[in-house]
Amino acid sequence: MCGIVGYTGRGQAAPRLLAGLSRLAYRGYDSAGLALCGEEGLFTLRAEGKLEALCNRVGDPNTLPQSVGIAHTRWATHGAPTEQNAHPHTAFAGDVAVVHNGIIENHRALRAELECRGICFSSDTDTEVVPHLLSLALAAHRDPLAAILEVTRRLEGAYALAILFRAYPHQIWAVRRQSPLAVAVGEDGCYLASDMPALAGLCSSVMFPAEGDIVCLTPTGLSLFDREGAPVTRPSLPVPATAQEVEKGEWSTFMEKELCEAPLGVARTTDALLRKDLPSLRLGAVRELCFLGCGSAWHVGVLGKYLFEEHLGLPVQVEPASEMRYRRVPLSAHALGVAISQSGETADTLAAARKLKELGLPLLGIVNVDGSALTRESDALLPTLAGPELAVATTKAYCAQVAALLVLLAKTAQAKGEEALAKEVRAALSTLPREMEETLALAPEIQAHATELAAATHAFYLGRGTDYAAVMEGALKLKEISYIHAQAYPAGELKHGTISLVEEGTPVVACLTQPRLTGKTLSGVEEVRSRGARPLLLVTGETEVSPQTGKVLRLPSSSPLTAPLLGALAMARLALDTCLTRGTDPDRPRNLAKSVTVE
Ligand code: G6P
Repeated sequence: MCGIVGYTGRGQAAPRLLAGLSRLAYRGYDSAGLALCGEEGLFTLRAEGKLEALCNRVGDPNTLPQSVGIAHTRWATHGAPTEQNAHPHTAFAGDVAVVHNGIIENHRALRAELECRGICFSSDTDTEVVPHLLSLALAAHRDPLAAILEVTRRLEGAYALAILFRAYPHQIWAVRRQSPLAVAVGEDGCYLASDMPALAGLCSSVMFPAEGDIVCLTPTGLSLFDREGAPVTRPSLPVPATAQEVEKGEWSTFMEKELCEAPLGVARTTDALLRKDLPSLRLGAVRELCFLGCGSAWHVGVLGKYLFEEHLGLPVQVEPASEMRYRRVPLSAHALGVAISQSGETADTLAAARKLKELGLPLLGIVNVDGSALTRESDALLPTLAGPELAVATTKAYCAQVAALLVLLAKTAQAKGEEALAKEVRAALSTLPREMEETLALAPEIQAHATELAAATHAFYLGRGTDYAAVMEGALKLKEISYIHAQAYPAGELKHGTISLVEEGTPVVACLTQPRLTGKTLSGVEEVRSRGARPLLLVTGETEVSPQTGKVLRLPSSSPLTAPLLGALAMARLALDTCLTRGTDPDRPRNLAKSVTVE
């Protein structure tokens, strides 16, 4: 999704802005631009496509003396990904430049009004109304704060805006509503960014403006104002990521680096969360649960449904948050809402979470990014400690979310007096990081399977119970980064239609980590094999499979509680190797954004 960076200080802005944008490139974008402000005025440089195109336009950034600027990576929503639509957008009078993350929902009405006043637009974006309105408001008030207050009162939708006014050449102004924004004072000036990786290594603490806050950054410090324009202060938090954590280092891709960091993330998450109390949630009294999330986080919720229903007999509702937000959700007053999100900024997840809160349910957040919107809106948190995740396709954060879910299962079991279950979950978690390391060590074997899979155009992924939740994630990974169509199917459901798509050589990946269901899943595999499919079976420990049934990838022995995660990890590695074999970029897959902050 769009990325924003800003800098005002003693140093040169252009090199800092370009470095910040490259740190945000992982989020996905299709054009980029920057605006610089100095004695000679305000100017912008923008380019369609990758950051390299913008860098070419800038030339040597060290030759640009300006010490104030804002920059942006755009993921097109309103208007094609062209240079004209790239941010920053400037006012008709050339006196204001703006970068924006979010959507101005009433932009059509505002545009019509401005066009009636004779203002010509140069882009198809929703954003361009903002600099024009600001320019008019500044002319009327001669004060940036008053101008921003007037304009934001008229804007509907979600926004984080960074603004340069030509008349105030040392300042950057910013305002946010429902879109993320962080501001910080560094050694050489003040910074703002939409996302933490851009700030790592530049400052030691960071401030998150609240809803509607307006910020003025100067070379020596920053001031905050609330939505009425009154000065406010907000707490400073330590910057969670070090510079090394957001650099690729020796690794050729972020996804491979992050896959290899997954066991550490699970160990850190488990250690910290098992020690954490959640008294406000009264888990002993919870009678049902509702999991919500998008993409991989939704798959974690599906896993949660199987686990909580099977082991604690608690009914669970789970659905993609984009559906949940528009559905009537019949839940009792004793239900617990659990929102799962790596970024904590996914618009659909936040909307569904707010809906559960409106129903009066307590909300537990399982979130990886400290200080994100979901961390602020949750009543209690189980933070995942996977560290910054930069590859678009999640791996280590997904694994840490599964660990957090298991910790929640253990805590709920404990609170309900199910001591044996609580103990079993804790024991399973304690050996999980080692088993994950052993799974990752299967890489050479997985590579051989990937070479075969890379030639396919479509594939099926089969599983039952918690293995079905795991193959949903496995199939998503393959689709996201290798562009092979993959469909996850409950193993017993395949014969009711989908089997008609199976033909000679169709790859079928089956996950069989649940001894209780292995025989049943194998029947489904036999059905496709006898119709020409090429099965790859992921089995745990000693599970016996006849060599005729298919190729076998033997995962380490693990408790049935944790074994599906080993399957998902192996399938993520399989997807990565398939993608690399096909020559596509795993870190920045086409059309995808790391965190979708618009609906
Ligand atoms: C996007 C990403 C997915 C991710 C989903 C939820 O669609 O491409 O990989 O699973 O958002 O993101 P979240 O940050 O809420 O976990």
